[in-house]
Amino acid sequence: MVSYTSAAQCYLLMLLILISESRFSDCYDPLDPYGNITVTFDILKYTLDGYVARVTIQNYYLYRHVEKPGWKIGWKWAKNEVIWSISGALAIQQGNCSSFKYQVPHSCKRDPVIVDLMPDAMPQDRLDGCCRGGILAAWAINPSRSYSFFEVRVGNLEQNSTGYEPQNLTLVAPGPGYSCGPVTDTIPTVSSVSGGRREEQVFRTWKSTCTYSSYLASKTPVCCVSLSTFYNPTITQCPSCSCGCRVADQHATSCIREGVIPSNLQDADLVQCTDHMCPLRIHWHVKKNYISHWRVKLTVSNYNFGRNYPDWNVLVQHPGFSQTSAAFSFNSTMLPTIGVPAEVALFWGKAFNNTQLLQADQHQLGSVTTEILLQKDRNSFTLRNGWAFPRTIYFNGENCQMPLPDTFPMLPNSSPSQIPSCHFLLLIAVYFTYRMFIGFS
Ligand SMILES: *[C@@H]1O[C@H](CO)[C@@H](O)[C@H](O)[C@H]1NC(C)=O
Ligand SMILES: *[C@@H]1O[C@H](CO)[C@@H](O)[C@H](O)[C@H]1NC(C)=O
Ligand SMILES: *[C@@H]1O[C@H](CO)[C@@H](O)[C@H](O)[C@H]1NC(C)=O
Ligand SMILES: *[C@@H]1O[C@H](CO)[C@@H](O)[C@H](O)[C@H]1NC(C)=O
Ligand SMILES: *[C@@H]1O[C@H](CO)[C@@H](O)[C@H](O)[C@H]1NC(C)=O
Ligand SMILES: *[C@@H]1O[C@H](CO)[C@@H](O)[C@H](O)[C@H]1NC(C)=O
Repeated sequence: MVSYTSAAQCYLLMLLILISESRFSDCYDPLDPYGNITVTFDILKYTLDGYVARVTIQNYYLYRHVEKPGWKIGWKWAKNEVIWSISGALAIQQGNCSSFKYQVPHSCKRDPVIVDLMPDAMPQDRLDGCCRGGILAAWAINPSRSYSFFEVRVGNLEQNSTGYEPQNLTLVAPGPGYSCGPVTDTIPTVSSVSGGRREEQVFRTWKSTCTYSSYLASKTPVCCVSLSTFYNPTITQCPSCSCGCRVADQHATSCIREGVIPSNLQDADLVQCTDHMCPLRIHWHVKKNYISHWRVKLTVSNYNFGRNYPDWNVLVQHPGFSQTSAAFSFNSTMLPTIGVPAEVALFWGKAFNNTQLLQADQHQLGSVTTEILLQKDRNSFTLRNGWAFPRTIYFNGENCQMPLPDTFPMLPNSSPSQIPSCHFLLLIAVYFTYRMFIGFS
């Protein structure tokens, strides 16, 4: 009777975990609550028929970057504006400029779309902070490459107009995941000049904030987590069908069996066939238990045959990161964790070594790996109840599918039955419920 109720309790808690987890995978990210891409129009000066604006696209996402083929920003003009010229970017269409007889504008489109220049742009078209092919680094990883600038000369307005906010801003970065708020008039940007002895102020500043939603991007999961330990030979594989199923799923029929050489290696979406069908797998191996430290091996594997991941990053949430830790082959930093129950560490490749996660070939998967040495907190460290496994793992900002706690490798002598203790499940349930509350407050 007692065991029946406790099993039912466990089941209930498990259900709670599943519900809260699935609600979380799609919306607001509690690990980066303020993340956004801010687009700023600073009116630097007025002209006879319009103004010159500096447009800044700033990526404030801590671990979500804008990758190839880069950002594309668009809007609708409020009046009959045209773009006379741009530096540091270009409008992809000129549009109908037939009413301009003497001087031809750069773009007459009512809804211009602007892209960044490539790194090989001519010196006269360049501007500081341009010309990276629209790639923006993540804010926590490389703030100095997390923004783009360009300057537009806007005209065809009535004389002495102070300009009108562009309407309906869109950001493709890349793919449809971003939605932007209205462009609103805010306090003008102030910058310091003359070595900080004078402050200068632009005429007007308009801002819009764009946020990412994996629901809008309608992405299937891209990665999953597998686990192993030194104390148990069991390897907990990625949950099967984490990113699709091999047979039943229509979307995942194209995969390559191991040992078969794909004819077209450049075909973007070809992955090696697996039970999880994820393009990426992250493996967490608890390697050693010393007196004052413990050691983990973290490996990221790429199952794509046609896709590399330049400037990849991996986020790991684990209470063990409250103590000092060192990653040997990756660059790393700790992220702020206000109101989040376990510490969050962010890892990325080292320059000139492993910043690029290579594609798989017929012989092996693409992979990057590091060992991490963590100091023990005597009060919390334990190998029991799955404490040593990560709570959350993200790859490039996308949540990776974790195995369920009842499949974690167990300490051999930990419990007479193979059922994990409900304490641990309770812990996780409390944790996710907590996350749910911060998420929706
Ligand atoms: C966008 O991010 C910046 C930096 O984190 C933050 O200061 C700002 O409040 C955010 N904007 C919105 C609308 O959340
Ligand atoms: C281009 O603009 C001119 C003047 O505004 C207009 O008369 C003409 O019909 C337009 N052409 C097309 C193809 O839209
Ligand atoms: C703007 O210019 C027009 C003439 O072009 C003038 O009549 C009007 O008073 C000016 N408005 C302002 C606010 O200066
Ligand atoms: C901008 O979007 C709003 C709402 O989506 C729509 O009502 C409006 O017509 C759009 N404006 C333009 C200029 O397309
Ligand atoms: C990358 O760094 C590791 C040690 O951190 C070193 O063993 C390896 O040779 C390096 N690889 C390259 C290509 O520099
Ligand atoms: C670590 O990352 C920072 C920021 O991207 C970079 O400046 C630094 O060179 C990196 N260190 C190594 C060893 O790659």
